[in-house]
Amino acid sequence: MKQIIANFKMNGTVEDTKEYMIEFLSKVDQNKAEITLCLPYTSLAVGRYFLSDSNIKLGAQNLSDEEEGKFTGEINGKMLVSAGVQSVIVGHSERRTKFKENSKIINKKIKIALKNRLNVILCVGESLTEKNTLKTLETIKNQLEEALKGLYENELERVTIAYEPIWAIGSGKSATIKEIEYAVKAIRKVLSDDFSPKAGKETQVLYGGSITNKNVQNIMRAKEINGILVGGACLDAGGFASLINLS
Ligand code: PGA
Repeated sequence: MKQIIANFKMNGTVEDTKEYMIEFLSKVDQNKAEITLCLPYTSLAVGRYFLSDSNIKLGAQNLSDEEEGKFTGEINGKMLVSAGVQSVIVGHSERRTKFKENSKIINKKIKIALKNRLNVILCVGESLTEKNTLKTLETIKNQLEEALKGLYENELERVTIAYEPIWAIGSGKSATIKEIEYAVKAIRKVLSDDFSPKAGKETQVLYGGSITNKNVQNIMRAKEINGILVGGACLDAGGFASLINLS
């Protein structure tokens, strides 16, 4: 079964999430895909309550690169696990740019997440300038190698890679199937060269960036990918349920 991961970003109060869950769970076909909802921290408890009887997994969007202690405002891996979280997004381009997360921080976060037995959704992808100067593959390779430095091959089983070209995020301009397959093949080659051919073949690789009801079927059917990461289109409960049901 393919994966569909929702990234709610900084949207939704506790009350909004409650209403969302009631509508979403009444409309979605849970057997269409392996679904994970990555909610804001403050909505995790209500998400856990509503998802406990479902096949849908609970995810978070970030974790601290520190394990515990004097780090005001931070949330660590252990806290996420105790909140019922199974997966966490790391390396999203919004965090790389706005919050200055470099590859060293991303690598630390991945190691802490894995140590806490969380699944990791690692985002990689090139900017428009990098695309236009033909640096897509180089960018992806560097991001992957720096993020996964020091990981054991068996740990990769709990890492999903999301190819998210920055120019496609929230822009209404999704990458073409050809562009997606080109990047995903490159991702698999890096994993194969750096870990093993098995890792290259079996690691889950998703696409994210302007997924809508209109392009979801085509993208979900692309041979090279194992699913999608959805931002804007997950925010309306009915709309997202129909996107999943269409997939
Ligand atoms: P989008 O966002 O679907 O709104 O383009 C994807 C993401 O940022 O993960």
